[in-house]
Amino acid sequence: MDYSKLKIPTHVAFIVDGNGRWATEKGKIRSEGHKQGFLNLKKLTAYIFSKNIKYISAYLFSTENFKRSEKEVSFIMNLLTNQLKDILNFCHENQIKAFFSGRKENLSKNVLKAMKEIEDETKKYKNRIFNICFNYGGHTEIIDATKKIVKDVQNGNLDINTLDENIFNKYLYQDLPPVDLMIRTSGEQRLSNFMLWQNSYAEFYFPKTYFPDFDENEFDKAILEYTKRDRRFGGIDYEN
Ligand code: IPE
Ligand code: IPE
Ligand code: MG
Repeated sequence: MDYSKLKIPTHVAFIVDGNGRWATEKGKIRSEGHKQGFLNLKKLTAYIFSKNIKYISAYLFSTENFKRSEKEVSFIMNLLTNQLKDILNFCHENQIKAFFSGRKENLSKNVLKAMKEIEDETKKYKNRIFNICFNYGGHTEIIDATKKIVKDVQNGNLDINTLDENIFNKYLYQDLPPVDLMIRTSGEQRLSNFMLWQNSYAEFYFPKTYFPDFDENEFDKAILEYTKRDRRFGGIDYEN
């Protein structure tokens, strides 16, 4: 689809959901769904960045997902380490700067090493920003920011009277623009602790499609829906 005449979002965020159900309904094990979801994420992000959308966030593992079986958790963790070369190639080919948002606690040395390598190798790219939320929670992000703020106030590095939304944003895991379009696949209609601060005025879109099947065509539909939304941000357009 031609995006050149459309009012496109600056920041698109995905809650990658339905991998497990995609697999189960095909008689496969859940891990197959995660693998397919991962392959689709690469294809989809390359497409979205090619449309001049600058920021993509993707929620891949929540702080709460540790409640899942050890087998499922370790499969998801291993995806990152086993596919490291492939992820790096993908970022270089598409000139993507990738980084991770979330807590480092509970992640293995190997996973942390893979994350650092991806961040170090891709930080030279400036135009396509891929924020990967991994061991991420919206509550923990706000708590972690608050702790850093309190520390800076105590150290005398921050005057509490100057604290506003822009400064608060800088204390989050990443200093990103607000989310414009938030897509959660699989039909679930909730945030599940995803980017609570950044989603304050996002337009929400909840397709029924499971993430492994959410392709370019599905994304085009999401963008067309987005262009129809009237984003008022609390104001009123008195002309209409
Ligand atoms: C999303 O798919 C990936 C993660 C949350 C890790 P799910 O694994 O949640 O898939 P469903 O919701 O069980 O189908
Ligand atoms: C949210 O999906 C977390 C991620 C997509 C990483 P879940 O599948 O874990 O969320 P719930 O349990 O359905 O709310
Ligand atoms: Mg789910």
